[in-house]
Amino acid sequence: MSSRFARRMDVMKASEIRELLKVTQRPEVISFGGGLPAPESFPIEEIKSVVTEVLEREGTRALQYSTTEGDPRLRAIIAQRMNSRLGTAVEADDILVTSGSQQGLDLTGKVMLDEGDEVLCESPTYLGAINALTAYRPRFVEVPTDDDGMIPAALEERLSHCNAAKLIYVIPTFQNPSGRTWSVERRIALLAAAARHGVTVIEDDPYGQLVYEGETPPSLASMAHGVPVVYLGTFSKIFCPGMRIGWLAAPRGIYEKYALVKQGADLHTSTFTQSALVGYLERHDIDAAIGRIRDLYRARRDAMLQALEAEFPPGVTWTRPRGGLFLWVTLPRHTNAREALVHALKRDVAFVPGGSFFPNGGHENTMRLNFSNMPEPRIREGMARLGAVLREMVAAAPAQNAAATP
Ligand SMILES: Cc1ncc(COP(=O)(O)O)c(C=O)c1O
Repeated sequence: MSSRFARRMDVMKASEIRELLKVTQRPEVISFGGGLPAPESFPIEEIKSVVTEVLEREGTRALQYSTTEGDPRLRAIIAQRMNSRLGTAVEADDILVTSGSQQGLDLTGKVMLDEGDEVLCESPTYLGAINALTAYRPRFVEVPTDDDGMIPAALEERLSHCNAAKLIYVIPTFQNPSGRTWSVERRIALLAAAARHGVTVIEDDPYGQLVYEGETPPSLASMAHGVPVVYLGTFSKIFCPGMRIGWLAAPRGIYEKYALVKQGADLHTSTFTQSALVGYLERHDIDAAIGRIRDLYRARRDAMLQALEAEFPPGVTWTRPRGGLFLWVTLPRHTNAREALVHALKRDVAFVPGGSFFPNGGHENTMRLNFSNMPEPRIREGMARLGAVLREMVAAAPAQNAAATP
């Protein structure tokens, strides 16, 4: 008998981690789990007045159907901001407003992937991208990645063994989940490999503006020189995620395909929230607000790094992100982070075990910690509890871990 559901549903699995993390809704839980911005950074008062003004000024237009590509005022602002920040040369017509950059990922699957096509990605990579693209039944090819980005020789080797490589999906700046940032050399190597193999690059950049120290290398979109790069951006982490406003910038020829499938997906992103965002951007200084968010998150990152030093057992290593929302922890080889989560939840602390970020599995001794959502005292308290869990686990299996460490 044929199944009631599409074949794609065979590969769509509910995440057991998601179920476990449902408890993070309880206020007593100290969550390093989700990628949630700090709610105190949301400009509630400004949004209240902007919404009233928009309704008075635009009337029913702000509530009517609108164009698939997005509000022309918003597209112009996004293009101008991209060009001044990233050194790109995009025009308003190259911008498609999306319902979060998550929609950009789903549309990417729709536009680009047939069943069995290969998607090359960092190892680890963003779980939401794995979920969005899995619906189109690709084969994920993980490319070994170090602190500077994908390793070029490994990328070349993987590409040469692909049958139908369609996409290279990367988050080159302050990556989710690892917090890493690619070097300029690795960016150049990636674009050269994409050009040689005729593969489209998806540059997902939700965190590029959340920089806490140092210079940020140029975006792939600004150095593409004819290599097809689709850039995904979002207001989720610099304004608020509940508005669900993101965008993509794509070269002509690709852009039209995205617009076509977006029409089928949702006709257009909410007219009202686009108008409200335009109102906010016209009346308020978003860059000053981003500056305040950076200060807030830098202090939280530092609190978490200090707690790692003080509380975590020997044999554990972690990244030191220069921006973004996450740091990445590697436990001794036989310490299982899923098991650690079960123990941590009993003490009202949550995080995401790192294995979820590898499309082909493994790496169960890794974890992702978010530092943006909790105030510093809660970070210190949660890290002390988590450190105690890990110290107990490592102490309980010292021989196993020692034997496995080269
Ligand atoms: C790498 C990456 N891409 C895309 C998204 C989706 O963001 P949004 O849909 O809110 O723009 C996220 C959210 O955390 C992310 O980390």
